[in-house]
Amino acid sequence: MTVLRVQGVSKAFQGIHALGDVGFEVEERQILGIIGPNGAGKTTLFNAISGTLRPDSGQVVLDGHDVTGDPPHRIARAGMVRTFQLMRPFRSMTVLENVCVATMSHTAAHREVVSGAAEVIERTGLGRWRDTPAGELPTAGLKRLELARALAMRPKVLLLDEVLAGLVPAEREPLLDLLAALREEEGLTMLFVEHIMAAVMRLSDRVLVLDQGRVLTIGTPGEVARDPRVIEAYLGEEPTGAEA
Ligand SMILES: Nc1ncnc2c1ncn2[C@@H]1O[C@H](COP(=O)(O)OP(=O)(O)OP(=O)(O)O)[C@@H](O)[C@H]1O
Ligand SMILES: [Mg+2]
Repeated sequence: MTVLRVQGVSKAFQGIHALGDVGFEVEERQILGIIGPNGAGKTTLFNAISGTLRPDSGQVVLDGHDVTGDPPHRIARAGMVRTFQLMRPFRSMTVLENVCVATMSHTAAHREVVSGAAEVIERTGLGRWRDTPAGELPTAGLKRLELARALAMRPKVLLLDEVLAGLVPAEREPLLDLLAALREEEGLTMLFVEHIMAAVMRLSDRVLVLDQGRVLTIGTPGEVARDPRVIEAYLGEEPTGAEA
């Protein structure tokens, strides 16, 4: 079943077309990798479909409901939540408190807020940092906190903007395993923007390639990796390498 349908979405900034006529569909429980050179419009796409920015035109349909241009909290309540490439936790608040802010989005009962947050903290491997102020977390902890805050809002569709960036391989692997498990065990649908090609290839069912705000191609990881246009968009870099 199609859970997300994006159709003809465009967004310009002072005449610069950051997104032009972007369209794609994502099936329930599928993982869509989104790649493209710096400035291709990947973050703008997340902004435009999650309510951070209003698209100039086009349509975003989530679970059969038109959510185009709705504010982020309403889209989150409808089931789609994103993480931020530039993380913004409340730095003086502990991990638990940060996640509680997110669980409060769907329940007001104090006990449920805390137990829901504690559950997400365990699930995301943040247990040992539970009472640590977010400002003191290492990058790997901050990335997990960003994920935890999104999960605490109980999304059906999760948008991940470079959750692996800045992590060393030994930190990436367990996080990739966690993302795979979230799909298997909780049926999450995911869209993830990522520059680390090995991760994209491993996790994605399909890969969407953005280039200068347009969909260059969409296909299986194998199809995309062999596509000469994709290789050209990366100026000859092999998109199957460990990193782009
Ligand atoms: N709020 C904004 N105001 C003006 N221009 C913007 C804004 N946000 C993005 N842009 C421009 O839109 C284009 C796409 O930017 P975007 O951040 O979506 O790229 P990206 O694919 O996420 O890049 P990266 O891989 O570096 O994160 C860029 O030219 C960028 O400068
Ligand atoms: Mg970006």
